[in-house]
Amino acid sequence: MKTQGSLRKYIYGITFFFLVLTGFGQMPVYKRYYISDIPGLDWLSQFYVTHMIHYIASGVLIAFAVYVVISFILSGTGRITTSGYLKIFIIAGLIISGVFMVIRNLSGIFLGHNLIIAFNLIHLGLCMMLMAVSLYTLITKKSWIK
Ligand code: HEM
Repeated sequence: MKTQGSLRKYIYGITFFFLVLTGFGQMPVYKRYYISDIPGLDWLSQFYVTHMIHYIASGVLIAFAVYVVISFILSGTGRITTSGYLKIFIIAGLIISGVFMVIRNLSGIFLGHNLIIAFNLIHLGLCMMLMAVSLYTLITKKSWIK
C-alpha cells in the first residue's frame, strides 16, 4: 500500500511539474525572459515542443485521475479532506477548460474570441490557484484523504 501511495505521488508530481512547465511555454515566456538561453533549456522556447509535451502530460493526468477516482470508489476507504476537495475541483476545472482549448485548436473548429479568452484566463487562473494550494498542502503536509 505504501509503495502504491508513493508511486502515485511520483506520477502526479512529475505530471504536474511538466504541465506547469510546458503550460507557461504556451504563453510563451521562456524566450522573452532568457530562460531558454540557459544551456540545455533551448527546447522551452520551441512552441510546438512544449505544446506536444503539454498534450502528452494532459493525457497522462486525465488517465491518472480516472484511475485514482475509480480506485478510491472501489476501495471504499478514507475520507477526502477539505484541501483534497479543493484540489480536485481545480484539477477538474483545468481538465474541462483544457479540453475546450484542445477542441478550439482542431482545424475547422471556430469558437468566439471572447470565449477563447475566457477559457485562457480560467485555465491560467486555475493553474495559479493549484500551484498556491499545492504549495500550502506541501508545507503543511496535508494529505488528499484521511
Ligand atoms: C495541472 C494541470 C494543468 C496545468 C497546471 C496547466 C497549465 C497551463 C498554462 C499555464 C497554460 C498557458 C496559459 C493559457 O494559455 O491559458 C496552459 C495552456 C493550455 N493547456 Fe493547460 N494545464 C493543465 C492541464 C491541461 C489539460 C488537462 C489540458 C487538456 C486536456 C490542457 C490543455 C491546454 C491547452 C490546449 C492550452 C493552450 C495552448 C494554446 O495556446 O493553444 N491543459 N496550460
